[in-house]
Amino acid sequence: MAGVTTPALVAAVGEGGGLGLLGAGMMQPSAIEQAIAQTRALTRKPFGINLFIAPQPQADAAQVARMLAKLAPYCAELGLPPPEVPARCAPDFAAQFDAVLEARLPVFSFTFGLLDRARLAALHARGTFVIGTASCVAEAKLLAELGCDAVVAQGAETGGHRASFAVPFDEGQIGLFALLPQVAAAVEIPVIAAGSVMSGAQIAAALLLGASGVQLGSALLATPECGTSPAYKAALAQATDTATQVTRSFSGRPARGLRNRFMQEIGEADIPDYPIQNALTAPLRAAANAQGRAEFVSLWAGQGAALACAEPTAAVMSRLIEEFDALV
Ligand SMILES: Cc1cc2nc3c(=O)[nH]c(=O)nc-3n(C[C@H](O)[C@H](O)[C@H](O)COP(=O)(O)O)c2cc1C
Repeated sequence: MAGVTTPALVAAVGEGGGLGLLGAGMMQPSAIEQAIAQTRALTRKPFGINLFIAPQPQADAAQVARMLAKLAPYCAELGLPPPEVPARCAPDFAAQFDAVLEARLPVFSFTFGLLDRARLAALHARGTFVIGTASCVAEAKLLAELGCDAVVAQGAETGGHRASFAVPFDEGQIGLFALLPQVAAAVEIPVIAAGSVMSGAQIAAALLLGASGVQLGSALLATPECGTSPAYKAALAQATDTATQVTRSFSGRPARGLRNRFMQEIGEADIPDYPIQNALTAPLRAAANAQGRAEFVSLWAGQGAALACAEPTAAVMSRLIEEFDALV
């Protein structure tokens, strides 16, 4: 989970019987190296890392200017200078990937697209297990054909951004209960279920529907090890089943989060594509997190967010395993 995973969370997931993944999609290479070293200092368990394979669109200068004008009053409300276009909207993927390769982690996962064959071969040559991310059957097939070792199947319930790269986002809104058996039937590689998996019963159901494992997201957002701010955690504590919505307003790419004032006032029209909008809103979101203003924070969370427990990661992990063991 880019932006909120910490070395402490990754280590605690591993120690608790899972496989922690560092969400490094928005990190500079030096920060990636540091986070890997910090995680290694905290645990001897294996862990992996996740990067974004995102298109880099050309900015439409007029559209960006309109968005900067829209954002200016919110920046003023938080005591920030007027927003600006940063020199770079996202870290350089090639440099991020080189830092990851150098670290020789046992697991690499990616989302938003397809990794190129040369980089996949480089990972495999180092013995790394490679996981792709899909939000529909067509994407899962592309990842299997590419040579991935496993695929995450993300249902429409999923918190944050989904893979959504081969079909238009609106056509790929498949609930996990429907998606999982179709992906499992379509590919030979192991399938990892994602989409508001919050309990042992849901893990058992995912395995019955053809998954070999599950990917947790929202289930860990309220833990003390997670890098979610106090404002984010307070918003999660108020979440209900109807509290989330998919929006492009924060990042320029559809993502599910807790509904708030920014989403509602910015709306969905005339938003620059990811990663441009993500970069334009970054200072606003950082200041809002620091000032406890959840109305301007991208509160990424899945439809099951109300089931997230504010307890240590070790307790979440052991509860899920105990619930699962009692059923299976
Ligand atoms: C705050 C947040 C950040 C996320 N960041 C990433 C990411 O960087 N890479 C990725 O592959 N998936 C990311 N996801 C998706 C999760 O890996 C996972 O599939 C998702 O959280 C599962 O849905 P759930 O939150 O409803 O349980 C993120 C999800 C959340 C909630």
